[in-house]
Amino acid sequence: MHFQLPLVMLGWMSLLRLKPVEREGLTGSLLLYAMGLAGLLLSGFLHALEARTAGPAGEFSVLVLGLASIRLGGMFLFRVLLPCAGLRPPRMVEDLATFAGYIAWGMVRLSHLGLDLGSIVTTSAIITAIIAFSLQESLGNILGGATLQLENSIHLGDWIKVDDVVGRVVDIRWRSTVVETRNWETAVIPNSTLMRNKFVILGRRIGEPVQWRRWIYLNVSYDVTPRRVIQTVEDALRRARIPHVAMEPEPNCVLLGIKENTVEYAARYWLTDLAVDDPTDSAVRERIFAAFQRAGLKFAFDERIVHLIQSGEEQDARTQRRDLEQRIGIVRQIELFAGLTDAEREGIARHLVYAPFLAGETITRQGDVAHWLYLQVSGEAEVVLDAGNGQKRSLGTIRGGANGDFFGEMGMLTGAPRSANVIAVTDVECYRLDKQGFEQTLKARPAIAEEISLLMAQRKADLASAQDELSQAARQRLLEESRGELLHRIRRFFNLEGA
Ligand code: CMP
Repeated sequence: MHFQLPLVMLGWMSLLRLKPVEREGLTGSLLLYAMGLAGLLLSGFLHALEARTAGPAGEFSVLVLGLASIRLGGMFLFRVLLPCAGLRPPRMVEDLATFAGYIAWGMVRLSHLGLDLGSIVTTSAIITAIIAFSLQESLGNILGGATLQLENSIHLGDWIKVDDVVGRVVDIRWRSTVVETRNWETAVIPNSTLMRNKFVILGRRIGEPVQWRRWIYLNVSYDVTPRRVIQTVEDALRRARIPHVAMEPEPNCVLLGIKENTVEYAARYWLTDLAVDDPTDSAVRERIFAAFQRAGLKFAFDERIVHLIQSGEEQDARTQRRDLEQRIGIVRQIELFAGLTDAEREGIARHLVYAPFLAGETITRQGDVAHWLYLQVSGEAEVVLDAGNGQKRSLGTIRGGANGDFFGEMGMLTGAPRSANVIAVTDVECYRLDKQGFEQTLKARPAIAEEISLLMAQRKADLASAQDELSQAARQRLLEESRGELLHRIRRFFNLEGA
C-alpha cells in the first residue's frame, strides 16, 4: 500500500493545477487518504502492543485507504488524463466508475475476511431492491441522467431551452444537468424533468453547423412598397459580413403581416455563436437603421406621435431650415466647391441625402453602376482595387473632417462603372449627391469640370499604376492624356459640350 504514496502525491499535484470547480472533492479525498494512513500507523502501533483491536483497525484503514485511492485515481483519470487526450466525459461517468470501483473493493475486502462472495451478491441484490424502491424519485433522476448520456441527446456545450431557461450545458451530473444562462445564472435542472418534458437544443440540426435563426422585427409605413423594404434590409445585411452572422443561409427579410397602422417585417439571420445573441441583434439593427437612413425610409411611428409632429408645422419648418443650413456648411467644407456662391451651395445642399455607413460596410462596389457622388464628413474609408486573381490593392484612404473629401466622382460624372471598392474602415458619415444636383452647378460653373478632371486623372493614374507597375514618365503621360479625355466625358455626360 505504501508504494501508492508517491503516485498520490504526483496525482495530487496535477489535480491542484485544475480550475477550482474541477478540484471539487479533492480535499475530502486527500483527508480520507491521510486518515487511512494514520489508521494504518495506529494499527501497527496497537499490533506492537499486542492489543486485540489491532486487526480490525488495520482492516478498516486498508478499506478506507483503498476507497480514497479509487476516488483519487478516478479524479486523475477523468479530470487530468482523459482531458489531455481530448476526451471530456461528464462528471456522471466518473462517479459511476468510482462507484463501481468502491463496490469491487468492498467485495475484495469482504472476501478477504472469509465471507462467501455468492451470499454477498444475493444480500446486496436484496438491499439494492429495497433501496431502489425507497428512492424512486432519486433513481428516476439518476436513470434520466444515464439515459441522456446513452442517447447522446445532450452534449456539454449545447445551448438548451427548458421552460423559460435558456443556457449552455456545463455539466451533466448524477441527478441534474447544470445550465449556465447568459445572465450569469446557473440553473440546476433535475434529469427526470429533462426525461419527462420537452426541451429544445438551440441551433442544432443533423449534419449542419451550429447556428440559430434570430428574428428582428420592424414596422414600416404603408407608403413604402414591401419590395423596397425587403431589398433595402437584405442588401444591408448581405453586402458585408457582420461578426457572428452566418453567410449560409443568407440573412433575409419577410413581410409578416399588415397591421392597423403599419406593415410588419422581420429580418432573419443565423447566429453562429449563441453566447452573443443580443450584441449581434444590435449590430444587425444598426445595419438596418443605417440602410434606412441612406434610402430615406422611416420606421413607422405610433399614430399619436404622428399627430403630435403634424401639429407642430412651425417647428417642422425650423427643423428643416436647420437641417439645410447644416448641409450648406458641409458643402462649404468641400474644397472643390470653395469658389461657389451661397445660392449655388444651397442648390447643391438641397440635393444631398444623408448616408451613414458602419465600419466594414462596402460603400461603392467595383463594377457597379454609379448613381452618386459621396461627400464624406466623418470617419475613414479605404479605396481598394480588385486587381483580379483575388488580389486586392489599397489605393488610399478618404477622410472626413474639416476639409471633407469626396469620392465616387469617376462613375457619377462620366457614367462609367465604379472603378474601385470604397470600404468604411470606421463608421463613416457621408452625404450623397445625385447627377441632377451636380448638373446645375456644372452648368453654372464649367471651371469645376476642369478642376475635378485633374483630380480624376490623378486618381486614374494611381489606379493604372496599381493594376500594372507604371514608370514615372508613363504615369505622367497617362495623366495628361486622361485629363483631356475625362473632361470631354464629363461634358458629354452632362450635355455641356461647347460650354
Ligand atoms: P468611382 O469610380 O465612381 O467609385 C470608386 C471611387 O474610388 C472612385 O470613383 C474614386 O472616387 C475613388 N478612387 C478611385 N481611385 C482612387 C485613388 N487612386 N485615390 C483615391 N480615390 C480613388
